[in-house]
Amino acid sequence: MAHDFPNLMVIDHPLVQHKLTWLRNKDTNTESFRSLLREVSQMLAYEATRDLPTELQATPTPITTFDSPVISGKKLCLVSILRAGNGMVDGLLSLLPLARVGHIGLYRDPGTLEPVEYYFKVPNDIAERQVIVVDPMLATGNSAVAAIDRIKECGCASIKLLCLLTAPEGVANMLKHHPDVPIITASLDSHLNDHGYIVPGLGDAGDRIFGTV
Ligand code: URA
Repeated sequence: MAHDFPNLMVIDHPLVQHKLTWLRNKDTNTESFRSLLREVSQMLAYEATRDLPTELQATPTPITTFDSPVISGKKLCLVSILRAGNGMVDGLLSLLPLARVGHIGLYRDPGTLEPVEYYFKVPNDIAERQVIVVDPMLATGNSAVAAIDRIKECGCASIKLLCLLTAPEGVANMLKHHPDVPIITASLDSHLNDHGYIVPGLGDAGDRIFGTV
């Protein structure tokens, strides 16, 4: 999909788009929603890790020994923005089983509409890790910007943001505050409605993952 955001990578793979269609469908039940989100998250993680550095390792095959690539460089840390981010973590861990997982809880102050942190737990060595922040919906982007502010305060220099869906408002917000953070997503949707929901979107991701409608 053509767009003008240099910080955004939209994964238009047919499998991702097919599963996203079922995630959007309001008649998809909680069980299917969870497994589809897990599958799409795995595929987004595949793209998000495309540039991981490798080094050659002398490897004995049954035929010979040769220098074969293995992943090198910084270890990974996933950071889930509560609560909907948790719906993406298992999909990523299936590809990246050694990754550590941090959690950030933010709520929007009803008066100021600014995000307020209520939970923050990340590994002590997060500054030495590559961080992948996960949140299914990048709407206004205020939560993602605040979460990444906090992660940068910990000394992290290498951060990516993985979102199932994005709105132009949220991508622009991220570009303004964190232009160094690439966003990987399955779709750049049209806009936000008056209630801050992504259009066409899929509704409230947390409610659909946890069945709390
Ligand atoms: N959060 C959601 O869960 N859905 C939206 O559409 C926007 C924010």
